Amino acid sequence: MRNKITVIGAGHVGETVAYNCARMELGDVVLLDVIEGMPQGKALDAYQSAPIFGFDARVHGTNDYADTAGSDLVVMTAGLPRKPGMSRDDLLNKNTEIVADCVRRASQVSPDAILILVTNPLDAMCEVARRVSGFPRERVLGMAGVLDSARMRAFMAMELGVSVEDTHAFVLGGHGDSMVPLPRYSTVAGVPITELLPADRVDALVERTRKGGGEIVSLLKSGSAYYAPGLAVAEMAEAILRDKHKILPCATYLQGEYGIRDTYVGVPVQLGRRGVEKVFEIELTPEERTALHASADSVKSLMDMLPASFEPAMA
Ligand SMILES: NC(=O)c1ccc[n+]([C@@H]2O[C@H](COP(=O)([O-])OP(=O)(O)OC[C@H]3O[C@@H](n4cnc5c(N)ncnc54)[C@H](O)[C@@H]3O)[C@@H](O)[C@H]2O)c1
Repeated sequence: MRNKITVIGAGHVGETVAYNCARMELGDVVLLDVIEGMPQGKALDAYQSAPIFGFDARVHGTNDYADTAGSDLVVMTAGLPRKPGMSRDDLLNKNTEIVADCVRRASQVSPDAILILVTNPLDAMCEVARRVSGFPRERVLGMAGVLDSARMRAFMAMELGVSVEDTHAFVLGGHGDSMVPLPRYSTVAGVPITELLPADRVDALVERTRKGGGEIVSLLKSGSAYYAPGLAVAEMAEAILRDKHKILPCATYLQGEYGIRDTYVGVPVQLGRRGVEKVFEIELTPEERTALHASADSVKSLMDMLPASFEPAMA
């Protein structure tokens, strides 16, 4: 039997997630949005590419949560994107309302699903989903590190003129300006970039990675990035649904790892059919550890602004 994947929010990121999951034959996809007709139209269009591409996965558009029942994976992309000049944190109040409502409805009909959050501000929205769904931390995680690492890899390949396939990058921390790219663990064919580039070029790569989302927002003028974000989610979905035990940086609820407790922060985790199977604690220098803690503190201050309680999913 095929997996069932629900994507909530059929905007730029949602449609890209849905299309990539179908194209990779990760399962049948249900694409849901509040706008009537729009998810149905996009789903039909996506499915009509199946005969050309040659993938066997249905794509179904809907406005009704009943159609999402029994999903193995629910990807949450509904909410407002940034406008030029806005930080991800400026989206907190409106997107909290949207995410709480969508997660409540989705988790009621798919109580065994794994939730991947995409909506910004990412780490705080993961916490909203965890509280509303009541799911264990293994089944509520966020996409940010895979995207931020891909951005850093793209910048490394551009800077060094090498194949992106030879690059590997590690970005930890919250999904915001306080994220922590780790040049020591970022390599080209196994060689750290700190040995390949002068310090000022490494610093420039780190800074461009931190501002990678904002760079696209100001170029686009309306909306934010979606090709790389959509594919980053599909990579996580594949690791989970194909039980690959793949190690990817994901926003995860830490309970003492890295000396951080009760906060979502991006760290390397092993993803498989149960969701987050293991949190990896890599060696950090005192400076890297301080930066990770500062990033966790900024996530925590945002989490402190969330409502004290949410109506739970099973009420
Ligand atoms: N985590 C990341 O790395 C990352 C990357 C890119 C975008 N994002 C975030 O993802 C979110 C979506 O971005 P986008 O570019 O797709 O935006 P978009 O405006 O193109 O799409 C959002 C969609 O959500 C829908 N929606 C709104 N309220 C809804 C509700 N209650 N129920 C169902 N659908 C609802 C809208 O109708 C719209 O189609 C934004 O918050 C953005 O900041 C996160």
